[in-house]
Amino acid sequence: MVNVDVKGCASFIEPAKYDAYVNKALDAFDVLESEKGAGNDFLGWKHLPSEVPASILADIEGICRLWKEKGVDLVIAIGIGGSYLGAKCVIEALSHNFAKQLSHKDAPEVVFAGNNLSEEYLAELMDLAAERNVACIVISKSGTTTEPAVAFRIVKQFIEERYGKADAARRIVAITDAKKGALKTLSTQEGYKTFVVPDNVGGRFSVLTPVGLMPIAAAGLDIKALLKGAEKAEKALAVKSAQNPAVVYAAMRNLLFAEYGKSTEILVNYNPKLTFVAEWWKQLYGESEGKDGTGIYPASVNNTADLHSMGQFIQQGTRIMFETVLHVEKAQRSVVIGPDQQNLDQLNFLAGKHVEHCNHMAELGTRLAHIDGGVPQMAVSIETLDAEHLGALLYFFEFACGVSAYTLGVNPFNQPGVEAYKKNMFALLEKPGYEEATQALRARL
Ligand code: PA5
Repeated sequence: MVNVDVKGCASFIEPAKYDAYVNKALDAFDVLESEKGAGNDFLGWKHLPSEVPASILADIEGICRLWKEKGVDLVIAIGIGGSYLGAKCVIEALSHNFAKQLSHKDAPEVVFAGNNLSEEYLAELMDLAAERNVACIVISKSGTTTEPAVAFRIVKQFIEERYGKADAARRIVAITDAKKGALKTLSTQEGYKTFVVPDNVGGRFSVLTPVGLMPIAAAGLDIKALLKGAEKAEKALAVKSAQNPAVVYAAMRNLLFAEYGKSTEILVNYNPKLTFVAEWWKQLYGESEGKDGTGIYPASVNNTADLHSMGQFIQQGTRIMFETVLHVEKAQRSVVIGPDQQNLDQLNFLAGKHVEHCNHMAELGTRLAHIDGGVPQMAVSIETLDAEHLGALLYFFEFACGVSAYTLGVNPFNQPGVEAYKKNMFALLEKPGYEEATQALRARL
């Protein structure tokens, strides 16, 4: 379902070194599969596709039905990082590009909050809420993250004032820890329907738990097909082999980094619907590998748009990067370019051709140009951008991330560095208990 092609790296590497890195990746595969490596208490994601309980899917469907009966047309999904990006990337990838502007709507619009602290963003969100029939999904594994907590205070108050406390409890769903955290306490107190984020699944690996599935289903998308694709990938990637796509990807990116100084990986897409898949991937690889003074910096471009901006740097700038192209073999819609009598734009040579054909030629041409410019190329391909193939792609990147981080020699499942900004923010906001840090930071400003 997911293929990895590394031919575009051939002219940059020595085959014997590649073989050595495949062996390292196979050792890392064993560490992941034996579940004995660092962070092994966070491996619950590995079997999520085959093990999501039917009762969870039924509960999610029940909530979507209830909200439909109530006429809900706006769902505010509150969360940040791993409690945001998985749902956002799937909804963007599988929705009509112009779903918001089309007059026919099959499902509520899902918008996101709690992923920033912008006052303007929240004020404008409430302008929208004032015009719509609103429900809310609040997601925080820890239940204590500041950004979603601030947004939820505001959205909760709005919903309670508009619909009353009893109806608010039917319109708010919480996704959080089974036992601890402020959100758990509040949900129990207010009687919200609650889903649990399993203890053994970290935020950035949680898209196939209710963290991702609830907002995705609320947007009217097929979560069963998403899980089916992920399950196929789960089975295919569990086979230890030098041809396993996760092993190939992990081996090549570690080789390019460690032996050839390629410290930036650019995930390249040729479909605007994949923009947030790249954002999700950046968090997955950035938080999993960027620690202990090492790691490949994950970046992304959206082509062909970015060929007219970042294309210059990639072609001729500092030679620090390799590219991984997300290749989608078949478009799901068809637009054929027509002939034009005047041919002023001189594009009649394209008459009768599909736009996607031009897109593929742009992709191939760019890949070859970038190879000529000194940028090694990998391609990760799926057949088409539907729920099943996307599920497989997400699982592929998760599994490959585990293999790759172990190949690199870091714990893929922690993120100790994320705490540093939080401490400073709390001190500057004068949170009780932070008095000394407040003084120390103020002295530096
Ligand atoms: O991947 C992670 O663990 C993080 O990105 C978290 O998902 C993010 O910090 C949000 O945390 P929480 O769900 O506890 O609010």
